[in-house]
Amino acid sequence: MKDLTLDISKALEFVSKDDYKSLQDKALEFNVALYDKTLPGNDFLGWVDVKNIISEEELSAIEKKAAELREKIDVLVVIGIGGSYLGAKAVIEALSNSFAQMCPKKGMPLVLFAGQNIGEDYIAELMDVIADKSYALCVVSKSGTTTEPAIAFRLLKEQIEKKYGKAEAATRIVAITDKSRGALKTLATAEGYTTFVIGDSVGGRFSVLTPVGLFPIACAGFDVRALLKGAYSVEEKTQKGKSFDENISAHYAVVRNLLHKAGKSTEILVNFHPKLHYFMEWWKQLYGESEGKDGKGIFPASVDFTSDLHSMGQYIQEGVRLMYETVISIAEPDRKVEIPSDAQNLDQLNFLAGKRVDFVNKQAELGTQLAHLDGGVPQIRIEIPQLNEYYLGQMIYFFEKACGISGYILGVNPFNQPGVEAYKKNMFALLNKPGYEEASKAIQARLAK
Ligand code: PA5
Repeated sequence: MKDLTLDISKALEFVSKDDYKSLQDKALEFNVALYDKTLPGNDFLGWVDVKNIISEEELSAIEKKAAELREKIDVLVVIGIGGSYLGAKAVIEALSNSFAQMCPKKGMPLVLFAGQNIGEDYIAELMDVIADKSYALCVVSKSGTTTEPAIAFRLLKEQIEKKYGKAEAATRIVAITDKSRGALKTLATAEGYTTFVIGDSVGGRFSVLTPVGLFPIACAGFDVRALLKGAYSVEEKTQKGKSFDENISAHYAVVRNLLHKAGKSTEILVNFHPKLHYFMEWWKQLYGESEGKDGKGIFPASVDFTSDLHSMGQYIQEGVRLMYETVISIAEPDRKVEIPSDAQNLDQLNFLAGKRVDFVNKQAELGTQLAHLDGGVPQIRIEIPQLNEYYLGQMIYFFEKACGISGYILGVNPFNQPGVEAYKKNMFALLNKPGYEEASKAIQARLAK
């Protein structure tokens, strides 16, 4: 079976060969530390060993509940934010028909998301569209106290109970949360919801291969075992004891840190397939939250090409030289579409007649790579043979493992996120949340100045 491949040759031109050699041992040491749990963040490494990330019993229970719901629902609403939604969203979008909302399929419920924002119109419109559908809710929160999903769940719980009655609603609500702590766990136990556990040792942004991602993905009708298999295939090649040559995650971690050292402070993740748009969002959270701290970090950005070549393309080609690109390429799309010949040829495209749309896309990709190299933008390229569960699993683990190694090379704890508390503290003070009285006074005085 073919695998994900990584090509860093067009990035190495921009870095010191000596540094490249000398950082390799460090990267392998940090890879060992991820297994031996010897460095900061060692409580959050439950994702590293893929074989033990989820038990067979729990995986079967996930598949069983997902199959039961798929029989009776048209829509699953997943309620969560950050790491509690982006992984599922990324995988489901990548695998679904681009126009899934227009072509519903029996047994493959549409997965919609809530609680990932506090947009009033968004939640109101969501509640409108699901009102006359058969639906279920999957509420995901490790802490069980996050404001955005808690508000959405309060609203959607009331709606689902009104529609189906409390008893039936309880069979249509699945909670994914901590095994014993938090408001959501207490509620789920009291109401008798099916519950899956987010283990203590996996942080939100590393949780897609736990029930957090697996249950919504299974509910959408996709093969979660293939996803895990793909992830394991990369873990196997990047386990401790593997050489640097075998460890593609270590290669990526090393080269991105060297590019950073060479003045490239922004990494742009690039796709040429719109289905990967949310994969980029997942990746931005993974790297942004893991590395952006202590005044350090490579800024993770993303673009969808060729769409964004007609907007951000100008900046990337000629703006401030602060970025490198990592391109995700899919060797073979699922579908084949040939460009037809046209008798009039007014658009002068007959030179492409008989060629596949993907052939044009691939030439755009190559042309962009060369143009951006000419513009001083180093290029990393990742290729997967096809967009399916197995290769998404490979990409997920490839990036997660690289993120752990890269964060340690950078000199940060990649597994905490102290910075996300700052906005919450201010918001709670502004909302006069009980317990925030002093902070409320202070923030009001600051605003009055
Ligand atoms: O990566 C993280 O830890 C965060 O993005 C969390 O996933 C996010 O804040 C949601 O937290 P919770 O699952 O506790 O509601």
